[in-house]
This record gives sequence, structure tokens and C-alpha cells, in this order.
Amino acid sequence: MNGFLVGKASEIPEGEKKIILANGRSIGVYNIGGEFFAIRNICPHQGAALCSGITSAFINSSGPGNFVYEREGEIVRCPWHQWEFDIKTGCMIVDPNKRTKSYEVTVERFDVSIEDKDLYVHL
Ligand code: FES
Repeated sequence: MNGFLVGKASEIPEGEKKIILANGRSIGVYNIGGEFFAIRNICPHQGAALCSGITSAFINSSGPGNFVYEREGEIVRCPWHQWEFDIKTGCMIVDPNKRTKSYEVTVERFDVSIEDKDLYVHL
């Protein structure tokens, strides 16, 4: 297995995260619905510890007074200026049609695997 050993998969219950230091990189490992995802613990805006921010749902709205919560636990909100990122993809939560094309923001994400109940992050 070629990866950084995070620990036992059971150490991160569903809906929880663990922040690790892997080869000098701070990484947040999240358990979302029994699947594991890992993103860099640095906000691309001004460098805050992104994974120390709250995780929440995506709020979708079709108009004033009408909204629904979707994808609970899949969004992390930066603690400094509240930029939000999709934990599964590392992409910033925005409507791409309402952004300039040149302004693309993502956080670095890593593949995660489980072998014999041990959790690995692939750097
Ligand atoms: S540092 Fe994360 S939103 Fe500003």
C-alpha cells in the first residue's frame, strides 16, 4: 500500500473528520456517509485552516423564502471569510455562470483508501 497511514477507518465516525499532518502537509480527512475524502487544510483565499471550519449542507433556493438543505455534511465553510468548498471535489461552492471564467478556486484533494480497516491518504 502506497499511502500515508491515517489510522483505523473506525476512528473517524460518519459525519466526523480528522486533521492529520502528512509529510508536512495538513490535511482534513472526512467521513461522509461512510465514504472518506481528504482535502488540503489551507484555504486558497488567504490561507486559513480551512478544515477547522464548520461542515454543513448545501442550501439551494429557487427564490425568496424558498430553500432546501441538500448534501448535509458535504460542505466546509472557511472560518475566516466563510468561503465554502465541496469536500468531495475541493471546488468552491459557486454558480460557475455567475463567476468570471478566469476565477477558478479549488483546494487540493487527495485519494483515500481503506485496507484491512486501515485508512490511507495518497499524497
Ligand atoms: S481565508 Fe478562507 S475565505 Fe478567506
